[in-house]
Amino acid sequence: MGRMSVQGEASILAREGKIAYAGPASGLEISEAEGAQVIDAGGRAVVPGFVDSHTHFVFAGYRADEFLARAAGASYMDIHRSGGGILRTVADTRAADLGLLAALGEMRAWAMLQDGVTTAECKSGYGLDKETELRQLEAMSLVAERTPLEIVPTYMGLHATPPEFAGRTSEYVDYAIAEVLPAVAAQGIARFADAFCEQGVFGVEDSERFLAAAGALGLGLKVHAEEMRRTGGAALASRLGAASADHLLKADDSDLALLASSGVVATCLPLTSFCLREGHARARAMIDSGCAVALATDLNPGSACSGSVPLLAALAVLQLGMSLSETIAALTINGAAALGLADRIGTIEIGKDADFVVLDAPSASHLAYRTGVNIVKATVKRGSIAYRS
Ligand code: NIG
Ligand code: FE
Repeated sequence: MGRMSVQGEASILAREGKIAYAGPASGLEISEAEGAQVIDAGGRAVVPGFVDSHTHFVFAGYRADEFLARAAGASYMDIHRSGGGILRTVADTRAADLGLLAALGEMRAWAMLQDGVTTAECKSGYGLDKETELRQLEAMSLVAERTPLEIVPTYMGLHATPPEFAGRTSEYVDYAIAEVLPAVAAQGIARFADAFCEQGVFGVEDSERFLAAAGALGLGLKVHAEEMRRTGGAALASRLGAASADHLLKADDSDLALLASSGVVATCLPLTSFCLREGHARARAMIDSGCAVALATDLNPGSACSGSVPLLAALAVLQLGMSLSETIAALTINGAAALGLADRIGTIEIGKDADFVVLDAPSASHLAYRTGVNIVKATVKRGSIAYRS
């Protein structure tokens, strides 16, 4: 992660959406590029398209009052236990039809493209009943049709226990496994399943049987792990061969060793720890113990209502102890790895998708240095300009 290859005076050739050349400008013959649209980046830095590997961006309703209540001292879990939090968004999302969910998702997808994000994972989990979960996933596929953003949908069946199962969490898990999972698999949109493995939300046993059932249906696995309390989610992710374990604020050294040895991507979400005013995940220790660290926004209506890549990059460099190179790797190739897509996206390499970002800056260091400022000049997805400032 610490060794980024930087090429000065470079050219990139994209053909049919794939990178056909990337290297010294002197190595690209004009004749090779004949008939091509030529874009002079004017000495600006170009980096791979960002892969936001953990979001919940298709939802209805906002919770700004909870943000202010937390700022005044309330805790995320207290709000959650009193029926606010995720369950409030569940009520709003259940009341939203497909058209509204897709329109809200589309608006947020364009904002992500403006931040240089070319691929985003998106979790359901604001329906929690079969009908609404399928509708949320369908909305994601509509957003993917209507915008250049590539979307990797995740069925987050275990996000909270819905009101109709209040006090009967394990029965809800039975329902999710027996009724919703097969319908999600038959619908064919979701590629991953995810569980919020947290004290007072879903325990390790319920998370494990849900994820094992999802894996048996061919879905990749992700875990919200060790966020507020150390609960065992990291060990679970490593036991099940999950693609990633995410949050990890309370992960200890033994958890990091397990993630490193099992090849589970450790996903840090510093916008969430910032907004919750919790201590950040120990990204430095993770990298030093051999974990592949990814950075993602967690964009959602509760814990982090922000998809800001520039703020994320600044937090990584200033507060997580990550170098610029590590930050960019975490936002690109390691995010791709967290989605099982590292062979197709995440770097500027011949044969990969032509996904990249032109920064209005002479070097990539400005991503963090111009703290919280969007410096994206253009976003290119599969060789086409998806956004231009
Ligand atoms: O990743 N931790 C659980 N899920 C989200 C928050 C969702 C919400 O508050 O609506 C998260 O932080
Ligand atoms: Fe999340």
